[in-house]
Amino acid sequence: MLSSLPNIYLHPTPVSLHYLICFTFILPFSFCSTRSLFTCPTLCTCYPSPPTASCQSQNLSRVPFPLPSLAQRVFLQNNHISEIGPGLFSHHTSVLWLFSNHISLLLPGVFNGLENLEELDLGNNPKFPFLQSDTFDGLKSLRSLHLYRCHIYRLPSGLFRGLYSLRYLYLQHNRLTVLPVGLFRDLFNLTQLFLHGNLLQSLPAESFFGLSSLDRLLLHNNRLVVVSPRAFVGLKSLTILFLFNNSLPALPGDCLKHLTSLQFLRLNGNPWHCDCTCRSLWGWFHFTPGVSSSPVSCNSPPALKGRDLRILEERDLWFCTSNILPSNVNLSGLAFPPKPSSFYIQVDPVAVLEAREWDEGGGESGNCATILTEKWYLLISILPMLSWKVNI
Ligand SMILES: *[C@@H]1O[C@H](CO)[C@@H](O)[C@H](O)[C@H]1NC(C)=O
Ligand SMILES: *[C@@H]1O[C@H](CO)[C@@H](O)[C@H](O)[C@H]1NC(C)=O
Ligand SMILES: *[C@@H]1O[C@H](CO)[C@@H](O)[C@H](O)[C@H]1NC(C)=O
Ligand SMILES: *[C@@H]1O[C@H](CO)[C@@H](O)[C@H](O)[C@H]1NC(C)=O
Repeated sequence: MLSSLPNIYLHPTPVSLHYLICFTFILPFSFCSTRSLFTCPTLCTCYPSPPTASCQSQNLSRVPFPLPSLAQRVFLQNNHISEIGPGLFSHHTSVLWLFSNHISLLLPGVFNGLENLEELDLGNNPKFPFLQSDTFDGLKSLRSLHLYRCHIYRLPSGLFRGLYSLRYLYLQHNRLTVLPVGLFRDLFNLTQLFLHGNLLQSLPAESFFGLSSLDRLLLHNNRLVVVSPRAFVGLKSLTILFLFNNSLPALPGDCLKHLTSLQFLRLNGNPWHCDCTCRSLWGWFHFTPGVSSSPVSCNSPPALKGRDLRILEERDLWFCTSNILPSNVNLSGLAFPPKPSSFYIQVDPVAVLEAREWDEGGGESGNCATILTEKWYLLISILPMLSWKVNI
């Protein structure tokens, strides 16, 4: 509609015409009188088609008010905005870019009523405040939410509730150490989830519950040490999984069994400890030949260092040489030393090896107890082998 009225949109409008158009569009009188439909704020440039207010890179310390209320696209990136509150953006807004500002205060209700908002970019706001559960309430059209590089260390579990349209969620390069239970419950239309470059240490069971349309899950450059066999339950559409550059000594093959659509897997850059704890992962590779995978280089034990787990013989993984985690570990309260280099401490060779099983799934091929019969204990107990102990 507005494309036929470029001049009116670009310049302050005579009052009579302003009201005429308000009534033509059948908009409430109060709406027209309190907001400017067409006036472009100083320091902004406005375009008619689609209606756009472009105010980026102007050293603005606050959101210009009023913004043209019919503007569908509002560009405010690369400014010095520190505070945003309710009433600044109209319900016509479908694209709102606020990235690279200094937002440190979000007043309650800031996004209330933005039912047409499809894209919200709040990335690269390094002083970002703690997000409240209701911050994004009612954004039923939101397709793309950018919260990267916001120094976020914690998310409330209800933050994404009701965001049924969300397709892309950008949470990379923050400081998340855990994902609250049920965080993604309502996001059954999400296709891409970016969590790389955080400080995640563990993925408990059903971490991604609800994400039945998810196609790619990026978890590289975290500090993952433990992944539950049930961590990926429900990710039936996932085709791409990145877990490279973490601190994983093992990965239960069971967790990958839930990923029935998986095509690309990257596991490189982890301190794989190739003993019985990796046997279920080895087995998964053998029974799932169609998946394209990065190398899985063993970091230990010394005899297998540098070998690719995928092409080892099954007998290479008979022995249990590690004592990685107590079996009753509480995943939500884990605190691990951060990097692979400090993860293992080599202790003096001991004659007797303990066969411990950390894979909480149990009963599957990774279960040492089923591999190591008493005969093997006897044999191993006389071998002067290295034992590896975790520095927790
Ligand atoms: C913003 O501030 C910087 C530094 O004070 C200045 O160099 C730049 O010209 C300003 N930009 C605008 C658009 O005023
Ligand atoms: C979300 O996906 C469901 C199917 O799982 C579909 O019926 C629905 O229309 C989608 N919702 C939106 C808002 O895209
Ligand atoms: C691995 O992840 C760490 C952060 O955990 C990061 O600093 C480092 O650059 C990453 N390395 C590569 C090769 O991506
Ligand atoms: C696990 O640890 C968290 C935090 O440390 C605690 O709140 C929770 O109750 C624990 N769960 C169990 C089953 O012990």
